[in-house]
Amino acid sequence: MKYFLDSAKIDEIREAYDTFGIDGVTTNPNHIMNSGKPFFTVLGEFAEFVKEKGIEGWENFPISVEINPHLDDADEMVEMGEKVAAMCPNFCIKIPCTQAGITAARRLEQKGIRTNLTLVFSPSQALIAAKNGSLFVSPFIGWKENSGEDCTQYIQDIVTVYENYGYIGETQIICAAVRNGKQIVDCAVAGADIVTAGLQVYKDSFYHPFTDYGLKKFQAAWDNTITE
Ligand code: E4P
Repeated sequence: MKYFLDSAKIDEIREAYDTFGIDGVTTNPNHIMNSGKPFFTVLGEFAEFVKEKGIEGWENFPISVEINPHLDDADEMVEMGEKVAAMCPNFCIKIPCTQAGITAARRLEQKGIRTNLTLVFSPSQALIAAKNGSLFVSPFIGWKENSGEDCTQYIQDIVTVYENYGYIGETQIICAAVRNGKQIVDCAVAGADIVTAGLQVYKDSFYHPFTDYGLKKFQAAWDNTITE
């Protein structure tokens, strides 16, 4: 399963790439706002980063960039999608799963610009993303689980629907707003292609107190052993 970093902070992206090899990036207007930098400045930093690492192209390291969320006209969405996509071959255009968004995503895909249908909260929304050829679909996990829903079945249903109709791999399932290691594993067990989460979520998922406990125990043994 692939790990994407959900962030707009270039230092976090660099750390996640260099230390545990993230496979791509997703971002959203919230992350861009939190970076404290202008929208197009952040996109410029992304473009520089992929050049520096030699990972240009969405096939190598996709970066999902969300267009202006105020747009509700497909023509305007396509126009902005084209402008953003022209900045870097890694950019995939993140578009909300509304009627205008679905239309715009379909048109962008027909023009060869890859898309990520986002703000997806049901298998029927995930199905329309695949029918229209989006590269990615982003069903949100954390928001639903925060409000008391268990997402295990929800992700399994999306995977099953995609298997039934040959969409697996054509439209890749990015489980989004992932908040902890259990959700990462739930998504992996269900067969999702990708999870996207913040840096701290991944760091927490690598941690286990028994690893520290075991290390101390083995250090004590080492200290009581003659090495040569
Ligand atoms: C995913 O693509 C989204 O950017 C993200 O997960 C949204 O949710 P969050 O900001 O609440 O994590």
